[in-house]
Amino acid sequence: MQTFREEVIRLLLPHVPLEEQQISEDLETPPNPALGDFAFPCFKLAKEKRQAPPKIAAELVASLAGSELFERVEAKGPYINFYCNRKMLARLTVEKVLSEKGAYGQQQIGAGQNIVIDFSAPNIAKPFGVGHLRSTVIGHSLYRLYEALGYRCIGINHLGDWGTQFGKLIVAYLKWGNEERLQTDPINYLYELYVRFHQEAELDPQLDEEARSWFKKLEDGDQQARELWQRFRSLSLTEFKRIYQILDVEFDSYSGESFYNEMLDETIALVAEKDLASESEGALVVDLSEEGMPPCLLRKQDGATLYATRDLCAAIYRQQKYNFAQMLYVVGADQALHFRQLFAVLRKMGYAWADKCVHVPFGLIRYKDGKMSTRQGTLIFLEDVLQRATELAAKIIEEKNPGLVNKGEVARQVGIGAVIFGDLSNDRIKNIEFDWDKVLDFSGETAPYVQYAHARICSILRKAADWPGDYDASLLTTDEEQAVVGMLARFADTIKRAATTYKPSVMARYVVDLAAEFNRFYHQCPVLTAEGPLRNARLALIDAVRQVLVNGLYLLGIAAPEEM
Ligand code: ARG
Repeated sequence: MQTFREEVIRLLLPHVPLEEQQISEDLETPPNPALGDFAFPCFKLAKEKRQAPPKIAAELVASLAGSELFERVEAKGPYINFYCNRKMLARLTVEKVLSEKGAYGQQQIGAGQNIVIDFSAPNIAKPFGVGHLRSTVIGHSLYRLYEALGYRCIGINHLGDWGTQFGKLIVAYLKWGNEERLQTDPINYLYELYVRFHQEAELDPQLDEEARSWFKKLEDGDQQARELWQRFRSLSLTEFKRIYQILDVEFDSYSGESFYNEMLDETIALVAEKDLASESEGALVVDLSEEGMPPCLLRKQDGATLYATRDLCAAIYRQQKYNFAQMLYVVGADQALHFRQLFAVLRKMGYAWADKCVHVPFGLIRYKDGKMSTRQGTLIFLEDVLQRATELAAKIIEEKNPGLVNKGEVARQVGIGAVIFGDLSNDRIKNIEFDWDKVLDFSGETAPYVQYAHARICSILRKAADWPGDYDASLLTTDEEQAVVGMLARFADTIKRAATTYKPSVMARYVVDLAAEFNRFYHQCPVLTAEGPLRNARLALIDAVRQVLVNGLYLLGIAAPEEM
């Protein structure tokens, strides 16, 4: 589409008092292909030309030079509609996809720039719940989307490996701990201890006091506290890494909250130096009343630091280390105030780069009535979800395609794909009602639907093993063929839109639409039984669809099995 877009701009430029950039921004993609592939609105020109926009559109059309890239250019009301030359569009698009392959859709907008993406960040000694799934899959998809735009991405897992909960856990472990259970099933066991601590602390508030003092010991470097913490941390991390492996997610850094321990004093000193810190009931805070927010707490009365202190320190550290063009925090919407406070403090400190920090919030996963709570033990474990989804996929494969080789692997790809897609296809900011039936529903607009279209194309292409690969895509001019071509041509724009709005759901929508468009085409237009050159052209078209489905699913973090 880029070639066509540039041509529209080239045609318009001599006739309108606008810069290239402005024309490009004003160009719209009509919602209905009957209105053309591009529409240029003439409202802006009305003032200068002192004419009604429809009149301007009509006159402008008459003065435009002809172009072989467009078969029609028409004025329609206040718009000028450009209709791509079908043959050219099909030829340029299919050739581009098939020559660029996995790189099709990639852009250079971000070349030479860094983007830090802070995502996943589960809390040590707590199970990896479906709540952290959201951050993980959204963050991972944004990582791949920005990479496709040419940025260098730095994925950081800001592990929750520090804080008062470790005081609680140490108390619980020292009181009720069982070494053997810790060895055999660390996460579940630590979680049990955590839940038990909260139950017992309800009856005996003294426990909270003990927990606070153990955390203080930990912060002060007490050896016993350190050793326990270290064990809890490494046992948890091993479990988390297993889940990341299942999800095919990687990080460039696992520097979590504890990483900043040694730098916190310095950070607090820096805040004090800028005259921003004040005492409040023995605690150290940054007043944010001017910004209309509660104060940001940096140090408690007992000297302990907080989540916010560590985030402040981390932001400054990362800016120095990565000099980022943007830093995205993919964290639940319930932490919106925390990030507004953090960014406000950075701004008060005089860091202009505070404006490059973005909180990318998402809705919570709700469980029956109310929020999931780690404390009450109502958390759904991600591993259970993934396992159940995989089992269901295996069962369906067993019914539909028992002869499939590699059944286990495909079931995994389909089951996990369904879970990831079930999350990403939601508008990021909406809350999700966690519903087993929905997560495991493979019909309708789901990953398995898209994966199935892909596998189907692979199967058709296997049957066409006689095709030497030559084609003339300009034969693809029917409405069904053009609808598919049009979708393929919009892939790069879709990547850009999904990335810049931080919405993987845009890409999820796209792959479903492309699969649906392929199905419509395949229903109407024979491929294997078509004649000679048309057969070749259609094979090339579906091969291009196959490639773009692979690329699109990759950007979502989902695999595309060739058979299922
Ligand atoms: N561990 C935190 C949680 O589970 C998320 C951390 C997000 N990243 C950050 N830099 N604050 O709520």
